[in-house]
Amino acid sequence: MFRFACLRLLPLEKASIRGSATHVDVDQCAVEVCRLVDRAAGHLRAASGKIRGFETKLNSKDLVTATDREIEELLIKGLRGRFPEHVYIGEEGTAGASTGRKLTEEPTWIVDPIDGTTNFVHGFHCSCISVGFWLNKQPELAICHNPTLELIFTARRNRGAYLNGESIRTSGQTELERSLIMQELNAENLERCEHRDILLANAVGMLLKAHALRTTGSAVMDMCLVAMGAADGYYEFYPHAWDLAAGALLVREAGGVVMDPAGGEFDIMSRRVLAAATPELGSQMVRLLGDRQIYHHRDDEPPGNPTPNSSRIRCV
Ligand code: IPD
Repeated sequence: MFRFACLRLLPLEKASIRGSATHVDVDQCAVEVCRLVDRAAGHLRAASGKIRGFETKLNSKDLVTATDREIEELLIKGLRGRFPEHVYIGEEGTAGASTGRKLTEEPTWIVDPIDGTTNFVHGFHCSCISVGFWLNKQPELAICHNPTLELIFTARRNRGAYLNGESIRTSGQTELERSLIMQELNAENLERCEHRDILLANAVGMLLKAHALRTTGSAVMDMCLVAMGAADGYYEFYPHAWDLAAGALLVREAGGVVMDPAGGEFDIMSRRVLAAATPELGSQMVRLLGDRQIYHHRDDEPPGNPTPNSSRIRCV
């Protein structure tokens, strides 16, 4: 199944793309990332249900395990060995990957070794290895592998999105009233009183308007659900570039739209995302959110800068 799924990343003819500084063979990138994600998935599968413990990062609910670090190291070291001149951004910052830097035109691998670490710790099977390859500031390749549920999502720019080798499309839903929406109830947003009211008001707004609201605990899983038509929309104010790098391409290649929750262009470093089956649904979601927006510290800003509008959000 893995081989078949990953073949979808390879076009029939050879694709070589001229990047700003280097000539990039995207086929070679696809072959290498498939090989490494396959190994990483074996590791994640073997570790599932046998967690030896975890550490916390920014707060008591921001979890990381040895498996996150091992998988990231496997992926980054493996890719870097093959493509030493490429740029690497990774959630855990292992093997020299950067956790915060500007996205450039350079070939850039953006890696989340386990998206849904809390799920992984609890044995809730929504944990995915997520890798996006970006070039000239646009996504070229996406792979999201959930080994316990045996789901392998792949996408290549202009060549469609696939689940286990089969083509997928978004639901085509245009009405919020008939939609199932994904929203993450991220603990950090809930703990910060200035964000909590916005988060909950948006959730209630969506619940009242849409058919249903769901949460998986994995941003990339949410986007995969939109891409395969099992959910119609997803939005979140919090995710990092590594949570979004693969999912954004998967949704777009499946015929959906990815944008800023206030309606502008999607910016992978902004920690803000809205994905929808259709532009019509995206606009309705944007309208419903209105000015109930949250801005976190951007991924490409040096630590310590205040978030742009945190001072104008008041606690109640
Ligand atoms: C998190 C998950 C979660 C989302 C957060 C992400 P992690 O990623 O995707 O669902 O709400 O925005 O940071 O920490 O499990 O890799």
